[in-house]
Amino acid sequence: MDFKSKIKTIEWISSKNVSRMVDQLVIPYEYKLVDIKTSNEMYNAIKTMIVRGAPAIGIAGAHGMALAAIEIAQKTKNKEDFLKLLKEKAEFLKGSRPTAVNLMWAVNKQFELAKNSDTTVDGIVQRLIDHGIELENDDIEINKKIGDYGAELVPKKGAVILTHCNAGALATVGYGTALGVVRSAFAKDNTIQVFADETRPRQQGARITTFELVMDNIPVTLITDGMSGYFMNKGMIDMVVVGADRIASNGDTANKIGTYNLAIVADYHKVPFYIAAPLSTVDTSIKTGEEIPIEERDHEEVTCINGKRICAEGVNVINPGFDVTPHELIKGIITEKGVLYPPYEESIKKAFGN
Ligand code: MRU
Repeated sequence: MDFKSKIKTIEWISSKNVSRMVDQLVIPYEYKLVDIKTSNEMYNAIKTMIVRGAPAIGIAGAHGMALAAIEIAQKTKNKEDFLKLLKEKAEFLKGSRPTAVNLMWAVNKQFELAKNSDTTVDGIVQRLIDHGIELENDDIEINKKIGDYGAELVPKKGAVILTHCNAGALATVGYGTALGVVRSAFAKDNTIQVFADETRPRQQGARITTFELVMDNIPVTLITDGMSGYFMNKGMIDMVVVGADRIASNGDTANKIGTYNLAIVADYHKVPFYIAAPLSTVDTSIKTGEEIPIEERDHEEVTCINGKRICAEGVNVINPGFDVTPHELIKGIITEKGVLYPPYEESIKKAFGN
């Protein structure tokens, strides 16, 4: 099956030494590409969510490090000074968004590569550029594997798959994780359908997931976040698949706010609930979800819709961007190494070859 949405969310353009990305702030009204030319611009692109979704943010971090290396190499050719300045930039880039661990994973990988490179400063710059491109290509291959493993789990012909937020091509370099599962499943059975939660407050489901699926002619029904229980109670949902921003060693998973509610409702209705994510989203340095830092976002995301205030002045607001779904509610974690099942401490260790 040839999917129309051959979206490349983020791509290094070697002829210009820039990172080119789809501007996700204007979807679905416009499909616009922007060139990110400096590491500071990359920090802002991640923070303001021009680029978003854990794997895409990871690649943005890798490109950000290549841009930083180019900038620093213009100031010094001394390797020790270069690495000191690069380390500062690495910490700066990692501070752009705290929850998706793919960002830390990719930036750290780039820094380690620079530190361990037995070459000149200019040689290191080229290695960071090349490695960023390699990670881009790997991402698509990994998502296709996740998609194929996940498609095997679809319980019946014509199944209805519910998803939350956007874990699609636009949250990765291409193809997607949760929507990768949908794409692979649809290639085998074109009678499957998707229900997409709108995903308040940033509407990634309404704006981005529906945009991608409509483009691929995969039937999608948009629902508001509070409707999932209603449809599960009517027996209309066969499976839930969502992405992840960080998975702890015990399988606890941070994903877009509202995922936890969805997992509880799915558990109550005995609808299988799966996470689809690459192993770069697993943080083996933490034991449980309690250790995952949760991003607190601008209150205007809650008090306003399209810049228009929807509530009384003086109201209190809290706006965590993510929540943590306890591992007990997760039937399986679909990765590029296959589907991991409980007990996750063991299956995760095994997936990492330990
Ligand atoms: O705030 P966002 O849009 O970056 O959040 C995205 C999500 O929560 C996704 O589900 C997650 O990053 C997985 S993307 C493959």
